[in-house]
Amino acid sequence: MKADKATLPRILVLASGSGTNLQALIDASRERDFPGQIIALGCNQPKAFALERAAQAHVETFVVNHKDFGSREEFDAALMAHILRHNPDLIVLAGFMRILTTDFVRAFRGKLVNIHPSLLPLYTGLNTHQRALDAGDRTHGASIHFVTEELDGGPVIAQAEVAVAPEDTAETLAEKVQEKEHLLYPIVVRWFCEGRIQLGREHVLFDGEAVESPMRLPVN
Ligand code: GRF
Repeated sequence: MKADKATLPRILVLASGSGTNLQALIDASRERDFPGQIIALGCNQPKAFALERAAQAHVETFVVNHKDFGSREEFDAALMAHILRHNPDLIVLAGFMRILTTDFVRAFRGKLVNIHPSLLPLYTGLNTHQRALDAGDRTHGASIHFVTEELDGGPVIAQAEVAVAPEDTAETLAEKVQEKEHLLYPIVVRWFCEGRIQLGREHVLFDGEAVESPMRLPVN
């Protein structure tokens, strides 16, 4: 029997762009036994396609445009105020292209996760696909991690791997990685909502046990 929807963990998604990961989460959240509810989408880009996806799915949206603020601190304070109104249990960064301040990250410690298109700790920051190609890597992928003060440096929860083919370009690799992201994010969000993953002092805890190295999921 499905739990009363109102009592399910509350998921708030932040995005800046096309929102394909948001879509994957919306689709997953429609499954009968999904243990969470997507309560809102926040965007810093007023024209992000993610906003349309949320509207289509009757998910409440809000925009906090970074261009309306003089500093990162003011932007983050406004964003935080919006988020707190929604009282989320989990904040999912899904292509949210703003670096968050320490105060913001600390305020939501253990409730803030991000997806990054590389096998962290490799290639933090941007242009990850080209950098993997330039390095001649045979494998590449995506990682989901808890967000801490260190950019793309928080404890990794899980990763999905793709094989790099000789003919791959940054674009084809990005497509392959995104396909995996769309499978991986719903799995990890599900675990979080079920209370299976938590951020310990330094490690991810899975079912109460410290995870020494990120879980690699066979998501095919
Ligand atoms: C994803 O590839 C993610 O790894 C990166 O930003 C991209 C967002 O894509 N952080 P989308 O907006 O979910 O389509």
